[in-house]
Amino acid sequence: MVAGSFTPSCKANLSRDAGGIIIGIESTAHTFSFGWVDGLGAPGQSKSAFVRPVEGGIHPREAADHHSQAASRLLSDLLAEEVFDISDVVAISFSQGPGLGPCLRVGASVARALSIKLDVPLIGVNHCVAHIEVGRERCNCDDPVLLYVSGGNTQIIARLDGRYRVLGETLDIGIGNMLDKFARTQGIPFPGGPRVEELALKWLEKNPKPSLDGLELPYAVQGMDLAFSGILNAALNLIEKGKPLEAVCWSLQEHAFAACVEVAERAMAHSGKTELLLGGGVACNSRIREMCDLMAESRGATSHVPEKSLCIDNGSMIATLGRLQLLWGEPTKITDSAIRQDLRTDETDIVWN
Ligand code: ATP
Ligand code: FE2
Repeated sequence: MVAGSFTPSCKANLSRDAGGIIIGIESTAHTFSFGWVDGLGAPGQSKSAFVRPVEGGIHPREAADHHSQAASRLLSDLLAEEVFDISDVVAISFSQGPGLGPCLRVGASVARALSIKLDVPLIGVNHCVAHIEVGRERCNCDDPVLLYVSGGNTQIIARLDGRYRVLGETLDIGIGNMLDKFARTQGIPFPGGPRVEELALKWLEKNPKPSLDGLELPYAVQGMDLAFSGILNAALNLIEKGKPLEAVCWSLQEHAFAACVEVAERAMAHSGKTELLLGGGVACNSRIREMCDLMAESRGATSHVPEKSLCIDNGSMIATLGRLQLLWGEPTKITDSAIRQDLRTDETDIVWN
């Protein structure tokens, strides 16, 4: 049986209490990753390789070359661990979009090849929705407001009428891209976010009660939307004026994260939802986690975030959503498996609730 002629009997191989491994392939941008979940949805450890440009941003073609070179080694590494047998695999899921075209095409090609070779269904998933669902499953959230903060995306999302609706988002660059760009100007290689966090913590160690005097930056909130270019330029101006890098990193985090948390709080107030869920690579940051905890606590709500390995791009989150789509929806025919560079969060029907 090829994936394109999937029949419902396959679904019986995978139930919420039966075995069966779903492999997930992530390849939207700088990460190529194989991950997996078991039949109960428990995610395994992903095997990932990252593009780390020596200078400048990610070049889509070079990243795609990196991914195609890494793919077979990563799959071999995963299988060599012998945590499952290849014959236990019941489906292959992959990031269908959004992302960089050349990178997405590598993941989609590998997924199609594996699906045909193993004779199991293919499932194309929405990368942004995968960030949400892996958090929801891991943190046992029911109906949260989502603060999705990654390199390319910054969105405040809530479920309404069978879709994840974007209530607010960045009007220019993603918050992670902003941190990476700032870091790059200071000679810090990609990804810059973790190093900015370290430097901000150093400033706090030296100044346990820091002041924003002389370190003010523009506020990134515009209605329910956000914008980070202005804050980036203003932070660079502070560096030019001779402010210490550690101080500027601290101020940058305070301003940018507060803006995100403010919009998330407004979304909670308007929607009446009482759970907040953080996702995306920037959700690894301890300060934004702390701000979310404080905001949720102040309104009698709860704040949740999955472990760091599931916040950054990884194959297991793709497998998590692949499993849900396989259980409650239909697999993707080969003829419908073309990548979708501009796929939006709110274009995917939530069939799994
Ligand atoms: P998407 O396609 O969802 O936008 P992405 O390609 O940006 O995903 P992710 O792995 O979700 O990939 O996020 C990577 C971003 O997360 C980078 O910008 C990186 O600097 C940022 N990041 C990672 N760890 C931290 C941290 N501790 N603090 C701040 N930013 C971080
Ligand atoms: Fe991502």
